[in-house]
Amino acid sequence: MLVSQVLALLGLTSTPASSQPEEIITRDVAILGGGGTGSYAAVQLIDRGYSVAVVEQKHRLGGHADTLYLPNGDLIDYGIRAYFNESVVRDFFNKLHVEYESYWPSANNTDRVDFRTGARVPVSGDPVDPIPAILRYRAAIEQFNYLSTGGYFLPDPVPEALLRPFREFVEANDLQDALTVIWTFSEPLGDILEAPLLFVIQMFGISHMHGLLQGPYIRPRNGSAAIFKEAARYIGEDNIFYESTAIRTTRDSTGVEVVVENSDGRKRIRARKLLISFPPILPKLRGFDLNEKELSLFRKWKYTAYYGVIINNCGIPDGFNIVNTDPKLPGGLPAVPFASIVDFGEVSGYYRTRVIGTESFTGRDAKQLVLDDLRRMGAEQTFPINEDLEIVALESHWPTALTVPPDEARSGFYQKLYALQGRRSTYYTGYAFCTDYSPQLWNYTLNIVDMMVGDMRGSLESK
Ligand SMILES: Cc1cc2nc3c(=O)[nH]c(=O)nc-3n(C[C@H](O)[C@H](O)[C@H](O)COP(=O)(O)OP(=O)(O)OC[C@H]3O[C@@H](n4cnc5c(N)ncnc54)[C@H](O)[C@@H]3O)c2cc1C
Ligand SMILES: *[C@@H]1O[C@H](CO)[C@@H](O)[C@H](O)[C@H]1NC(C)=O
Ligand SMILES: *[C@@H]1O[C@H](CO)[C@@H](O)[C@H](O)[C@H]1NC(C)=O
Ligand SMILES: *[C@@H]1O[C@H](CO)[C@@H](O)[C@H](O)[C@H]1NC(C)=O
Ligand SMILES: *[C@@H]1O[C@H](CO)[C@@H](O)[C@H](O)[C@H]1NC(C)=O
Repeated sequence: MLVSQVLALLGLTSTPASSQPEEIITRDVAILGGGGTGSYAAVQLIDRGYSVAVVEQKHRLGGHADTLYLPNGDLIDYGIRAYFNESVVRDFFNKLHVEYESYWPSANNTDRVDFRTGARVPVSGDPVDPIPAILRYRAAIEQFNYLSTGGYFLPDPVPEALLRPFREFVEANDLQDALTVIWTFSEPLGDILEAPLLFVIQMFGISHMHGLLQGPYIRPRNGSAAIFKEAARYIGEDNIFYESTAIRTTRDSTGVEVVVENSDGRKRIRARKLLISFPPILPKLRGFDLNEKELSLFRKWKYTAYYGVIINNCGIPDGFNIVNTDPKLPGGLPAVPFASIVDFGEVSGYYRTRVIGTESFTGRDAKQLVLDDLRRMGAEQTFPINEDLEIVALESHWPTALTVPPDEARSGFYQKLYALQGRRSTYYTGYAFCTDYSPQLWNYTLNIVDMMVGDMRGSLESK
């Protein structure tokens, strides 16, 4: 008798007697997470002739691509807003027949307000031109050219300067005037001045400046969510498992088996390769067969919470761009938790913002913070604020800004992390492995797809 039958006789298994055998799905590659990189990888693999199964916890693909569609046909992007006009982006849009337009954020009427008091922060003298300081920043980080594609391709030893707080680099290179611009890219880090320089460069580095120099951004005419609606069509609904998570994995060098669960039950996906595209933090890996090496790396991540919010009918006239500024803090950068910028949603009556908090900061906390900030602006008569303003959308981007303590980076965390690629038939992409910006992530993902395809071809030849 099998052990499982003995256990069943003794009533020691949790399997209900009526449970159906799990459906078995066989594919070349199982992809966990159907956000920006998981969807991109699926499309690339299909183009190369491989079959995929995408497991996504939400009811749609696209991850941070949040678009609110209003009944009258207007739309508001409140996660990903626009893309650098790079060939990797245009190629993806064109393949999916996503129509796009050029876009430049309209920063007219920029106001600086201390969200903690609600008062406008007076600007003395002429407005600061950030360009010279940004050019100094660019020149000062060029020495770290191995970071220029957005990957963590660090040398050994890691230069100490990269592990020191960004504050020191700002002082040494006179970058104060560039801080607001750098912060708008690196705000997910929270306190950017205390963050190691490495992570600030990863948020706003040579590749981001290169992207900005391409001219206006481009964005899908029907919102960023439209890309992933088309991607889902391309991938095929039969290959996507929505509202599902992996609850168990079994992996070795010959292939993987992943048990996925949704409210209807469980399925078993058997694949030659596994691609994990969401950040591999331990709370997301329960039931995974992690070995010591994987566990010792994945337990090191630190991260923050990040929320995208849309406010309707707040009373602020259309067209404002309100930058949270704490005049008492260095560079005017606000302390965590904060809403960074409240800006016009490009549809009359609508404003957007993003909220950054510590790891445990919840969506409820974020909503309360935004309401309190706006009410203080009303009380100070900085802006007319309506009593009946409404938060009409709030989306979580938790976890964001994945970092490790400087000691870990110093002792080879990223070299060890990248060495996991391909081990136990498992590959990784996404913003824990590369800068959190779409073109660079898609570029990085392309490299991982090539590596997987090479390994799959190699394993056929050796048979
Ligand atoms: C607020 C915000 C604004 C941004 N704006 C821009 C921008 O304007 N331009 C730009 O180029 N980039 C922008 N980015 C960066 C952009 O998010 C990334 O480039 C890209 O979305 C990251 O893709 P990813 O696949 O790594 O992660 P995600 O897109 O987050 O994909 C991860 C996916 O995995 C799913 N998932 C998570 N856990 C599980 C699980 N346990 N099981 C199954 N599925 C799971 C998630 O639902 C998600 O769909 C922005 C990011 C944020 C957060
Ligand atoms: C994007 O860049 C390409 C190549 O440089 C250029 O031809 C095109 O006009 C740009 N598109 C937009 C919408 O700006
Ligand atoms: C835009 O996307 C929304 C939501 O997917 C859809 O309902 C609408 O028809 C689309 N509009 C156009 C013009 O494609
Ligand atoms: C500022 O933006 C608003 C909203 O888009 C617009 O109505 C207004 O004309 C703009 N003002 C200037 C000076 O460009
Ligand atoms: C993508 O990678 C190639 C080299 O592999 C590089 O030349 C290009 O600049 C990268 N593009 C982006 C957007 O990072």
